[in-house]
Amino acid sequence: MNPPTTPAAHLPPPHDITRAVLERLAATPDPRLRQVMSSLVAHLHAFARDVQLTEAEWFAGIEFLTRTGHATNEWRQEFILLSDTLGLSMLTVALNHDRTPGCTEATVFGPFHVEGAPELPLGADVAQGAQGVPCTVSGTVRGADGTPVGQAVIDVWQADAEGLYDVQRDGLEQHQARAVLRADAQGRFHFRTVLPVPYAIPDDGPVGDLLKATGRHPWRPAHLHFRVQAPGWRTLITHVFRQGDPYLDSDAVFGVRPSLVADWPQQPDGSHAVAVDIVLDREGSPPEVLR
Ligand code: BEZ
Ligand code: FE
Repeated sequence: MNPPTTPAAHLPPPHDITRAVLERLAATPDPRLRQVMSSLVAHLHAFARDVQLTEAEWFAGIEFLTRTGHATNEWRQEFILLSDTLGLSMLTVALNHDRTPGCTEATVFGPFHVEGAPELPLGADVAQGAQGVPCTVSGTVRGADGTPVGQAVIDVWQADAEGLYDVQRDGLEQHQARAVLRADAQGRFHFRTVLPVPYAIPDDGPVGDLLKATGRHPWRPAHLHFRVQAPGWRTLITHVFRQGDPYLDSDAVFGVRPSLVADWPQQPDGSHAVAVDIVLDREGSPPEVLR
């Protein structure tokens, strides 16, 4: 006859489960992978204990992640949206890009960049048919000490007047409101485009459901995206936002930094203009103390 047992007496206590997993992970050959996985498990287990996670709740969590995977395809990256709306993308950017003082701050990449956009000459209209209020953008690319970064490769992309990126529209024959430009020998650039407006991130999937369930809106303040690359300089991914935008304080993806907010004044002909000073960090410059 078996001795009397309390229910589940054969299960290790919760604390020992965490210890058992961490001991198993201790054999991971790659030290960085060992550190990352051990910390992840320790924090996940602490979270489950903290909220006393029920089995039904964890099943709902797995269902949510499954739907997030199913919503992801070549054109839609629901996991990036999830990371962005949880602030994890912006935290990772901040941990890795707060370096030399005086350099332009970085922000989220987002899911709408397209590699290999058309290269257009300085002065071109990158809208390429996208609707919106005309706007000119001019600026310079330089180092923190003023050194011009000649020939910097500048990717720009933005939403149109309806708040849509070209990749969200069916049937377009060419890219719109995105281009690759090359700064001149003095690091100067200028181009025409349309005025960015606030837009809602895609919220018809599981991430949108989560935003609704947590009483959050999906809006981002108006912005123009930049990726600036030059040999010997750290690649910068950033935005320029519009002063006065109603969503500057509640960006759905936490990407606003005050230093990135600029004036886009209206000109006598009704168009708008913005000046953008891009300051790059030298490759290999020492990191500041990380937060
Ligand atoms: C964007 O600015 O394009 C973006 C960033 C994060 C999530 C969705 C869109
Ligand atoms: Fe955007």
